Amino acid sequence: MSELLDDGVLESLLGYLPHQGAAAHREIFLGWLSDLGLKTDVQNLFITHGGQHAISIALNMVSAPGEAVLTEQFTYSGMVALSSQNGYRLHGVPGDAHGLLPEALDRAFGETGARALFATPTLQTPTATVMSSERRELIANVIKKHGAFLIEDDVYAFLFESPPIPISMLIPERSFYVSSFAKCLAPGLRIGSLVAPEPFRDRVINAIRATGWMASPIMSEVVSRLIHSGDLSRQVHAKRGAAARRNAIADRVLGNWLSPLSAAPASIAGCLFRPDGP
Ligand SMILES: Cc1ncc(COP(=O)(O)O)c(C=O)c1O
Repeated sequence: MSELLDDGVLESLLGYLPHQGAAAHREIFLGWLSDLGLKTDVQNLFITHGGQHAISIALNMVSAPGEAVLTEQFTYSGMVALSSQNGYRLHGVPGDAHGLLPEALDRAFGETGARALFATPTLQTPTATVMSSERRELIANVIKKHGAFLIEDDVYAFLFESPPIPISMLIPERSFYVSSFAKCLAPGLRIGSLVAPEPFRDRVINAIRATGWMASPIMSEVVSRLIHSGDLSRQVHAKRGAAARRNAIADRVLGNWLSPLSAAPASIAGCLFRPDGP
């Protein structure tokens, strides 16, 4: 923040900037997403008020109040809040240690008429499962088969040095990819991003305008500078180390009750439970 003042850029950030975010910020965010394995055109990337805002916009594009929305059987609490606000009918799809079960997803699309799946393939909340690459292919095929859309929440991918390839890369034309700086930096910044299929571009810009005009340019500038200076990468390394140390402690103390957390040593949010355990 003091750097912004010293550099005399504050005034330029105090006005109304484009709804989707300043071009310079979006270019820098694009580089960060590319390190996470998500490659796209900058035109498809939108800066949001955090990941929750991105999820809310994406769901608004592909489902209507009263419709079923598919999720993993246990899902992120913000999704429950969003559904009670917007009247989506959440339908949980069973999974195993490799993530969602493709046959169960196929059945759920058929039975509910849902047009959208909200999923967190990498370090799912709250189970901490990481979907295998074979499973990602199968899930992408099921989504394609039903002409449905994926809202892929990838806020924890940064915890891996080489994150698994997002499903959104397999079916970019059917995927909304959600990322956030809440977990890798700080939630109070309220900065996240959404990558949407190209035909949705104008609607996404209008949705940002309708629900908050634009994410705070000052905070986007702070995030951009932290990416550019390498400070974000240093934070991320520290967080990976802290997660591994904490999970080792949890393994030692709670090992009888939890699946080995060493199965997902990077997880900071999961509670890896054993469905058959005590
Ligand atoms: C799985 C998951 N997705 C999305 C979010 C939302 O992140 P943000 O704080 O950027 O809105 C959270 C925050 O708790 C989360 O745990």
